[in-house]
Amino acid sequence: MRDPVPQVTYLKDYAPPAFLITSVDLDVDIEDEFTRVRATLALQRNPRSADSAAPLVLNADELELEAIALNGAPLPASAYAVEANRLTISSVPAQFALTTVCKIYPKQNTKLMGLYASKDGYFTQCEAEGFRRITYFIDRPDVMARYSVTIHADQATYPVLLSNGNLVASGDASHQEGKTPARHWARWEDPFPKPSYLFAMVAAKLDKLEDSFVTRSGRNVGLQIYVEPGKLDQCGFAMQALKKAMRWDEEVFGLELDLDQYMIVAVGDFNMGAMENKGLNIFNTKYVLARPDIATDGDFMHIDRVVGHEYFHNWTGNRVTCRDWFQLSLTEGLTVFRDQEFGADLYSRPVARIQEVRGLRAAQFPEDAGPMAHPVRPQSYMEISNFYTATVYEKGAEVVRMIHTLIGRENFRKGMDLYFRRFDGQAVTMDDFVQAMQDASGTDLAQFRRWYDQAGTPVLEVSSAYDAPSQRLTLTVKQSCPPTPGQPDKLPLHIPFAVGLVGGDGDDIALQLEGEGRPGGATRVLSLKSSEEHFVFVSVGQKPVPSLLRSFSAPVILKYPYTSEELTHLLARDADAFNRWEAGQRLALDILLRAISTLQAGTEPVFRESFVAAVARVLADGPTDPAFAAEALSLPSEVYLAEQMKMVNPDAIHAARVRLRRHLAHSLRAEFAAMYVRQRVAGPYSPDADPAARRSLRNLCLGYLMELDDPEVRALCMEQFDRADNMTDAMAALAALANCDCPERAQALDRFYAKWRGEPLVVDKWLGVQATSRLPGTLTQVIRLLSHEAFNMRNPNKVYALIGGLRSNQVRFHAADGAGYHFLADQVIALDALNPTVAARMARGFDRWRKFDAVRQSHSRSALERIRDTRGLSKDTFEVVSRALA
Ligand code: BES
Ligand code: ZN
Repeated sequence: MRDPVPQVTYLKDYAPPAFLITSVDLDVDIEDEFTRVRATLALQRNPRSADSAAPLVLNADELELEAIALNGAPLPASAYAVEANRLTISSVPAQFALTTVCKIYPKQNTKLMGLYASKDGYFTQCEAEGFRRITYFIDRPDVMARYSVTIHADQATYPVLLSNGNLVASGDASHQEGKTPARHWARWEDPFPKPSYLFAMVAAKLDKLEDSFVTRSGRNVGLQIYVEPGKLDQCGFAMQALKKAMRWDEEVFGLELDLDQYMIVAVGDFNMGAMENKGLNIFNTKYVLARPDIATDGDFMHIDRVVGHEYFHNWTGNRVTCRDWFQLSLTEGLTVFRDQEFGADLYSRPVARIQEVRGLRAAQFPEDAGPMAHPVRPQSYMEISNFYTATVYEKGAEVVRMIHTLIGRENFRKGMDLYFRRFDGQAVTMDDFVQAMQDASGTDLAQFRRWYDQAGTPVLEVSSAYDAPSQRLTLTVKQSCPPTPGQPDKLPLHIPFAVGLVGGDGDDIALQLEGEGRPGGATRVLSLKSSEEHFVFVSVGQKPVPSLLRSFSAPVILKYPYTSEELTHLLARDADAFNRWEAGQRLALDILLRAISTLQAGTEPVFRESFVAAVARVLADGPTDPAFAAEALSLPSEVYLAEQMKMVNPDAIHAARVRLRRHLAHSLRAEFAAMYVRQRVAGPYSPDADPAARRSLRNLCLGYLMELDDPEVRALCMEQFDRADNMTDAMAALAALANCDCPERAQALDRFYAKWRGEPLVVDKWLGVQATSRLPGTLTQVIRLLSHEAFNMRNPNKVYALIGGLRSNQVRFHAADGAGYHFLADQVIALDALNPTVAARMARGFDRWRKFDAVRQSHSRSALERIRDTRGLSKDTFEVVSRALA
């Protein structure tokens, strides 16, 4: 018998809740094998509900009801109904107190949603729908309540008891000689009403790093970071990141922290990266713990970004929250935009933009072209956890950025101010946000709103015509958007299209549109609104090279028939750094696509010398901006190449890319070797942007040199691996060795594990580097590692490193014999029984299965069907695989 098909939730069915909860009093008693939760809710009918006679329905998930009372009087069994996922009381007064007592089993909670046990104690994760796994509640973001929480636990094992807000009381239970160990308790009160998804509590044994921050209005805020005992030396950077973020939000958005105390707790078992619970953020250790010898430059940068992100949510998410989960991008898209801007201010703005676009193209564009495609505001879901996607996050941030581009920085700031003035303390929609931006700027954003409701990546087809006698350049821009599931036809979008015209000397030409009295500016943001538009630039004295979509002003696919000479010119001279990078990527893409066809036809590709010369120039310019050079010298990824093909041949893609890397390495060996020496960083390690940039260029050179398969280079790589005083250099060497079938490979991997087996985050790197190796034996090795002591299916970081690593290894995952698909199906099925959120994320590896050949398709179809037909499959995984098969 097939399991029943899970229910679908639709945006169009949104109705205000029938009841509101004004306050919650929680008493959480942590015993060894279970936890008892007593909750008293102050409830009243919602005057804004259309149904004034609705029964009270509370959400529940894996709760064991022990007692229930209304206004203090126990309810008879006939007065309520307990079902698997809800508790219903058909008749209640207009205003009342409801008390429930239930038992939960945090030690058995492998889903890591709600209250769960980890190595050092108990932690919570409630977004999106985890609070219902702690107590009976109206678990939706438009129900906002004041929380007071009392936690009881064993004092010696769980000395730290935390919840949101302020500690108002605490005490010890007297120790009974020879009996139960001494227990203690703490009571916390959060003065801010909040939705249940922002609830958090912790009972654990943790060390604490303390600091403080004086806000610009002069308030002193206590800052605490709690980590596993013994790891205080790894949280200094996260503390600095927090202080940088606090200052930045004051300076850029005028937003100050509203609390007297701000806590971050790090936990090793966590489904996501981090969570913005009011005043008590809970973080994956990966985004807190760092020390030069165990964290890479990339890790340090991510800590800045994630600490910033969760901190910024305090305004964009917590003070103003979402009305319903369809509005998720209201908080996530906006907060990603804010953390991107924070990162751009801390590091290099153009390089940050390049990395954002790389990420968008690697994850969001494929998502938008596949079975899980959905608008930034989805219209339906089976399981909301599946919609914390690249579209909601990254495309959502792009949509916010486009508003910023269209109305300008100052108006954007006015719009934010108005948004907070209007909606502080409320649960609102994306329309409310756009309306504030429109009202503050006076720019009509009516058509712009389509970005929120239309899925798919728009395509811009641009052509240009230059007329020398009249000195006019005409740009013709056509926009279209491919059909996506449930959306066959699309309307034109309002697209900010930033353009410049680059002259033969490399300088920008002053832009003057037909009808304008004089030229103004070198970059213009054109507003595209119809499916075809023409723009005529006048007084263009020479035929320019158009620099289109500068700084990637919209998340679209741009088509323009550039010649390689034009691209080479832009790569060398465009004033827009993003477009310099883009020109290099287009050149490389062109060459790689040609090499792929050549290889598919059974012949060896030959590479143009002009491309090698262009690469040599970028490399020679490296010292002026090493971070940019490292980006510009990285070829488009295999996944990006696959997206450009009608039918993907993963082997040919891989082979072409490796061939081109080898060709560059052979042609520019001396140059790479010289730059490797020149970019050495002297002195003690610092994760700052400048030395990190030098390391990135230097390690890029090492990567190319390792393509030579030369014993001398391998010795150099091994030396870097052994001598490195920082994880960035050690990992770069290890990753290069892991791709190389040589004796040094096993030596390095073994030494690395022996040295770091006690540091879980470093072990994740060790697993990841093996799972992403290009060697043909990778899948076999990954299967072996599943039973290694280092791996643990219950720990999401381990799963992401090993199974996620293989999944992202295009050439090995998409092996022609289907072994990769078979492997992933096995793992998804095993994981689903433990942690459906993580299982469903892994199942997304099948998204693009229809782009492969018939043989691969038949293997992936049977893998998908095997998952779908698994008894008791979660709705999380079911939604992903059923959409893939649809
Ligand atoms: N609110 C989310 C955490 C979250 C995500 C909870 C999904 C429940 C389901 C948090 O603000 C977040 O977005 N975290 C990101 C990192 C961030 C820097 C984009 C994450 O966890 O990956
Ligand atoms: Zn977030």
